Amino acid sequence: MIIRPRRLRRTASIREMVRETTISVKDLISPLFVKYGKGRKDPILSMPGQYQFSVDTIVSEAEELHALGIPAVMLFGLPEKKDATGSCSYADDGVVQEAVLAIKSRLPAMVVMTDVCLCEYTDHGHCGIIMDGQVDNDATLDVLARQAISHAKAGADFVAPSDMMDGRVAAIREALDSNQFKDTGILSYAVKYASAFYGPFREAADSAPQFGDRAGYQMDYANVKEAIKEAVLDMEEGADMIMVKPALSYLDVITRVREECLLPLAAYNVSGEYAMVKAADERGWIDGTMVMIESLTSIKRAGADLILTYFAKEAARVLCDK
Ligand code: PBG
Repeated sequence: MIIRPRRLRRTASIREMVRETTISVKDLISPLFVKYGKGRKDPILSMPGQYQFSVDTIVSEAEELHALGIPAVMLFGLPEKKDATGSCSYADDGVVQEAVLAIKSRLPAMVVMTDVCLCEYTDHGHCGIIMDGQVDNDATLDVLARQAISHAKAGADFVAPSDMMDGRVAAIREALDSNQFKDTGILSYAVKYASAFYGPFREAADSAPQFGDRAGYQMDYANVKEAIKEAVLDMEEGADMIMVKPALSYLDVITRVREECLLPLAAYNVSGEYAMVKAADERGWIDGTMVMIESLTSIKRAGADLILTYFAKEAARVLCDK
């Protein structure tokens, strides 16, 4: 007798019945870039289909995402001015703060998350305050906490620190609690590697470091035990959700962190991962839509509950058609 696993693959309906992993539009979080100005929707060349919005146009984009059933957005800001300490990052009238306010007043049900980091706001492009040529961990924590409070004040549901400073989840939690934002959550970029896959993002957010690199604070991509250590620490410091980033070269990390952590786990399908699919699709070398769904499914199969992806809108359209 031959055991015939192929019986379960015989028809589309059978395959659907026994499928182990599905993605839903409810798993998706759409990253969005917001800049100063009015009526702007400037294309990001290395990320076809992605734009830098101004506060007015980002609201219409959020409405479209909401209508497609996408539950959440993650906002990144491009300030008008940069300085050594990233002081625009915590201005009450900063672009992110205004975008949060505008989106939440139009769409109260939309979950609004904000990236908390300094690299978009500093003239040197590093994720923290520089002292003696190095990013100073503890001096950075104060600025991150101020930024988080300003986002919470504007109405953000979750703040998402992406800087990889030690102790920032605890510092932000304490600052939120002592400023009456006990209900504002923290989605921590707990496991963030120093990755070349962030290339297109740094163009999109104008946040490339002007000297050196981020290897002194972001993780070495050769390590996985360290990922578990970072995840456990952030859980203990009070994170509500944690993230692994990037996603596709790190599926093993997602699986390992999933096993160790009881919190909802997000994975960030980053800009370089998006750009590669778009570039190959444009040349007709791959079917971009099929590769998109296969990639997103693999991220969920690895153990992610939520996926931050520039494909959110496109994937939502495909999933709605099914
Ligand atoms: C830092 C930040 C980065 C990304 C998200 N937050 C860039 C970096 O660490 O250099 C990358 C996201 C992507 O590549 O899509 N604020």
